[in-house]
Amino acid sequence: MDKNLHKVFEETFDSSPTGDYFAPGRINLIGEHTDYNGGYVFPAAITIGTYGVARRRDDNQVRLYSENFPDAGIMAFDLKELAYDKKHDWANYPKGMLKFIKEAGYEINQGFEILYYGTIPNGAGLSSSASIELLTGVILKDLFDLSIEMLDLVKIGKKVENEFIGVNSGIMDQFAIGMGEKDHALLLDTNTLDYEVVPAEFGEYVIAIMNTNKRRELADSKYNERRSECEEALKRLQTKLDIASLGELDEATFFANTDVIDDETLIKRAKHAVTENQRTLKAKAALEAGDLDEFGKLLDASHESLQNDYEVTGKELDTLVSAAQNHSGSLGARMTGAGFGGCAIALVKKSEWEDFVQKVSQKYLEKIGYATDIYQASIDDGARKL
Ligand code: GLA
Repeated sequence: MDKNLHKVFEETFDSSPTGDYFAPGRINLIGEHTDYNGGYVFPAAITIGTYGVARRRDDNQVRLYSENFPDAGIMAFDLKELAYDKKHDWANYPKGMLKFIKEAGYEINQGFEILYYGTIPNGAGLSSSASIELLTGVILKDLFDLSIEMLDLVKIGKKVENEFIGVNSGIMDQFAIGMGEKDHALLLDTNTLDYEVVPAEFGEYVIAIMNTNKRRELADSKYNERRSECEEALKRLQTKLDIASLGELDEATFFANTDVIDDETLIKRAKHAVTENQRTLKAKAALEAGDLDEFGKLLDASHESLQNDYEVTGKELDTLVSAAQNHSGSLGARMTGAGFGGCAIALVKKSEWEDFVQKVSQKYLEKIGYATDIYQASIDDGARKL
């Protein structure tokens, strides 16, 4: 960790921290917009994320500061005033964690100070918010000696998004960030929370992370809209089929019953959810079998479905992904995360890395008018004390 954070902490809070912590960001290899449809996801935690240094206080004051938002200054509030507050901006994520951890019955009767420093580009769709949530969870567990399991922190993180922030997201981000394992991806069944740890072995290839540098504005409202469209499609299917989620449908059953959905847009949304779920299982099998060609094809098919059926990509992501797909060194590419901007990933041959970066960057700049950032993903462990 950047040891300067201790210095910043001392200057900011006029005291010394007692612990260092880290929570990663995440990429999702495949299984997009399936986690709120009872389907599979296949994410991994990455080495960029959020660092924190912290200490307990003797009074009831909570004081939070982010090196990423120095102009916002110190966010201060009382342990007993844990309502959402617009002016607390980014600090609502830690505040929500504190509130729901306390409400779950864990005792936190003293204030604390935390300095945050994130290396995830803001708005990149690599889950900086879930990273802050899980980091806060791990810090509170340690500072107050709470006997809380990581999986409970994961669930509380999701609850913060859903009930405190107001985004109807699924559990993928918090799960990947809490439970991630170095050099492994997690195949998670979001219906049961059963998961399998799969070696992320790409041989001669690496995963590229490509940032559109387009902020995910409007993303939250569009996200919630997609979610309700899927719920409506499910409701209509349930008039005929005995299912609890779209994730339970195989493709044949779905295509034989689209008439009961009776709306072109809703059919497309549900089609994505159903086919993406099947692609995720196939991609996991392909990775385990070392069949990277097949894995790459499934990435391409996933993007196509997100572009045409789910309609969550946009010009920037489509430009980036098609430039990557057309490069000779790439086996496949797709957007990752919620979409509407943010990042894409590609499977790229190591020996062609430099040419890949150069050509894709150039195409993106020509067509979009500003630069992309491309770097190699390294897969890391989940949130932890350092
Ligand atoms: C966001 C949400 C996740 C998931 C993805 C799309 O990252 O937080 O729960 O729905 O979008 O797959």
